[in-house]
Amino acid sequence: MWSRFLGHFTKQLGIDLGTANTLMYVKGKGIVVNEPSVVAINRRNDKIIAVGEDALAMVGKTPPHIQVTKPLQRGIIADFEVTEKMLRYFFERVHNDKALAIPRPRVVICVPLDVTEVERKAVGDAATSAGAREVLVVEEPIAAAIGAGIDISEPAGNMIINVGAGSTEIAVISLSGVVTSKSVSIAGEEMNRNIIQYARDVFNLLLGERVAEHIKIEIGSAIELNEKLEANMRGRDLLSGLPREIVVNDAQIREALGRSVKAIVDHVKAILEITPPELVADIYQRGIVLTGGGALLRGLDDALSRGTGLPVRVAEETSSCVVRGTAKLLDDKQLLNDVAIPASDLVKGI
Ligand SMILES: Nc1ncnc2c1ncn2[C@@H]1O[C@H](COP(=O)(O)OP(=O)(O)O)[C@@H](O)[C@H]1O
Ligand SMILES: [Mg+2]
Repeated sequence: MWSRFLGHFTKQLGIDLGTANTLMYVKGKGIVVNEPSVVAINRRNDKIIAVGEDALAMVGKTPPHIQVTKPLQRGIIADFEVTEKMLRYFFERVHNDKALAIPRPRVVICVPLDVTEVERKAVGDAATSAGAREVLVVEEPIAAAIGAGIDISEPAGNMIINVGAGSTEIAVISLSGVVTSKSVSIAGEEMNRNIIQYARDVFNLLLGERVAEHIKIEIGSAIELNEKLEANMRGRDLLSGLPREIVVNDAQIREALGRSVKAIVDHVKAILEITPPELVADIYQRGIVLTGGGALLRGLDDALSRGTGLPVRVAEETSSCVVRGTAKLLDDKQLLNDVAIPASDLVKGI
C-alpha cells in the first residue's frame, strides 16, 4: 500500500546512459537532461567539478589535478563510482528543477546488446545507488525501435541499427524480442580515430579528439556529396612540433572514414545473412531504420542502402530515439513487462 502510494508520486524516469551522451526523460515533462557523459573531478579532494557539457569543454585542457573522465565505454560502465556520481548529479538536477516531496524515481534504463549479466547489474546498481527506487533494464535497440515509432510487438521483422559513439548495435526485432543481432565497436568514436589517423599519416598533423569529431560533423560523409565541403583542421605538426592549420575537404575525410563505413555495411550484411527469410522479406518491405547520433553522418543511409540493396531511413530526431523509447515504455506497462530484463536481485515487478 505504502509503496503504491509512493509509486504514484514518484517521478518516472527514462534514461539513455550512452557512451557519449546521457539523456533523461521525465514522464509528463519530456527530455530534461541531454548532456555528454563526461565528469571532471578534482583529484586533490575527489570532488566533482563539472558534469556534462561543462566537463566536456575541459577535455584535453586540464591541469594535472583535474581529471576529466568518460565513465562509460561502449555503453558499458567502465568506472562505476563516477557513473554513479554522474547519475546522482543528473537526478538531483531533475529533482531540484521541480520541487517534489519524493525524489526517488522509478527508472527505465537501457543497456547495449551483448552485455554480461554483471555489466547489466552494474547499470542497475549505479542507478539504484544514485537514488532510483526501482530500475528496469531494457536492451538499447528495443528502446531505439520504439522511439523510432516502430510497433515491435507485431510478428514482423524490423531491422534497427543504432549508431552510437562506442558501438553500433544491429538488431532484427520481431514479437518484442531481438531475433538476430550484433554489437560492433565501430561507431562515432572509431570514426574520430580514423580522422586522427588520416591526419597523422597524410599531413603529419597530430589532432585532438574533439577537433576530429568537429571535422567529422562539419564535413564527414559516407558517400560522394553533391556539394564540395571544406573545413579548417588545426593540430600540431609532427615534424616541427608547432601548431599548424590546413584545409581538408569532404573527399579526404570520406577516405578517412571509408574503412569504418565499409565495416558497418559488412556487419549489417552478415546479420541479414543469418536472419530467417520471412523476417528478411519484412525488412525488405519496411526498410532498415537508423538511430543514434552516428546515423547523422551524411550519406550513411545511402551507403547502407547501396550495400544491402534495401531501403534505409534515418529515424526522426535520431539522437533521442532511445530515451523517447524508454519514455513510451513508461506509459505501456504491458510492453515494458514484455521487454524488461531484471537488472538486479533488488528489482521488484511492476
Ligand atoms: N552530424 C553528425 N555526423 C556524424 N556523427 C555525428 C553527428 N552528430 C553526432 N555524431 C556522433 O554520434 C555519436 C553520439 O551518438 P549517441 O547516440 O549520443 O551515442 P551514445 O549513445 O553512444 O552516447 C558521437 O560519436 C558523435 O560524434
Ligand atoms: Mg546510445
